[in-house]
Amino acid sequence: MYRLFYRLVLSRLPAEATHRVSFALLRMFAAIPGVRTLLARWLAPRDPVLRVHAFGCELPGPLGLAAGFDKDAKGPGALLALGFGFVEVGTVTAEAQPGNPKPRLFRLPRDRALVNRMGFNNDGATAAARRLARPRTGVIGVNIGKTKRVDEADAIRDFKTSAEELARFADYLVVNVSSPNTPGLRDLQAVDKLRPLLRAVRAACDVVSPQRRVPLLVKIAPDLADADIDAIADLALELGLDGIIATNTTISRTGLATAEPAVTALGAGGLSGAPLALRSLDVLRRLRARIGSRLVIISVGGIESAADIWQRIRAGATLVQAYTGFIYGGPLWPRRLHRELAALVRAAGIASLEQAIGLDALAPAA
Ligand SMILES: Cc1cc2nc3c(=O)[nH]c(=O)nc-3n(C[C@H](O)[C@H](O)[C@H](O)COP(=O)(O)O)c2cc1C
Repeated sequence: MYRLFYRLVLSRLPAEATHRVSFALLRMFAAIPGVRTLLARWLAPRDPVLRVHAFGCELPGPLGLAAGFDKDAKGPGALLALGFGFVEVGTVTAEAQPGNPKPRLFRLPRDRALVNRMGFNNDGATAAARRLARPRTGVIGVNIGKTKRVDEADAIRDFKTSAEELARFADYLVVNVSSPNTPGLRDLQAVDKLRPLLRAVRAACDVVSPQRRVPLLVKIAPDLADADIDAIADLALELGLDGIIATNTTISRTGLATAEPAVTALGAGGLSGAPLALRSLDVLRRLRARIGSRLVIISVGGIESAADIWQRIRAGATLVQAYTGFIYGGPLWPRRLHRELAALVRAAGIASLEQAIGLDALAPAA
């Protein structure tokens, strides 16, 4: 049904406008008294085999909505009601900024992929904090990035400002150094730059939230060399981070079914969706082999089915996220995946999804 509607209607509209209108409609609908509760009753995962524990929280299911869909924390509650186990809002930057000129979001339907160069369009940390301060239920992560106009030399101060505004409202906080659409941002993944940045954000979290230790994660790019992934994994352990999110979008364009001239005509940006799946799984396996089960790994990139989630969990992910799969799958997609995943867990003869985390993982390197 959604596939037909998508093909006949949505795919003919500009991608960003479609996103804006459908998200606004969902928020309006969910704001009608009683509707959110009804939606959640129908769509939210309730099968106990799917429950996962992370960051001191119990999540009803492992599939979360990845950063970028709700950049301004306008409707995490409505998105949770669609059946996501958790929602990550952002990327939020310290200062409000418009992002790159439009058009900046493109569909590649033949590849079940998207290309975006949004450039962290958002209302800024103060506005997001105001929205997140409202009463709420469910697990909400907050993803922070660098304001575009701020030089790399001032990046730490800029990230600290966001952390100070937002950490107390975050069930977990993510330092995003991996989006390809903010010039120079990914250079911060180099360990000698990342170490002081993460230390400063950790300290800022502890100052603004002395009672509750805010879990801190870093989100990495799929385009890193394997040695750099290992170095970040080691750094995460050294600094006592709580987890790693792998991965963001890729700048690679290899292996696409869409004709090359059409892909080139779209221009720069990060590629997400099915073509990212293999590399994302690779990065997950590498991280897991390096750090074992000592940190939470959130695997993201190209997840389309319950079988994909099952594979990531067995490879060592505690949680997974998706964005592009949701765009192509529609509003009932999270519910379907969670239900099919519960069936996979039962078919494997285990009592809980949590018992499957890392079942297929390689032994950690000595
Ligand atoms: C339109 C769009 C905007 C995104 N914006 C962000 C963002 O602001 N911050 C971020 O960390 N990741 C962002 N992402 C990356 C996703 O969170 C995710 O890491 C990536 O898309 C891979 O997952 P997927 O293949 O399920 O889409 C964005 C992705 C898309 C498609």
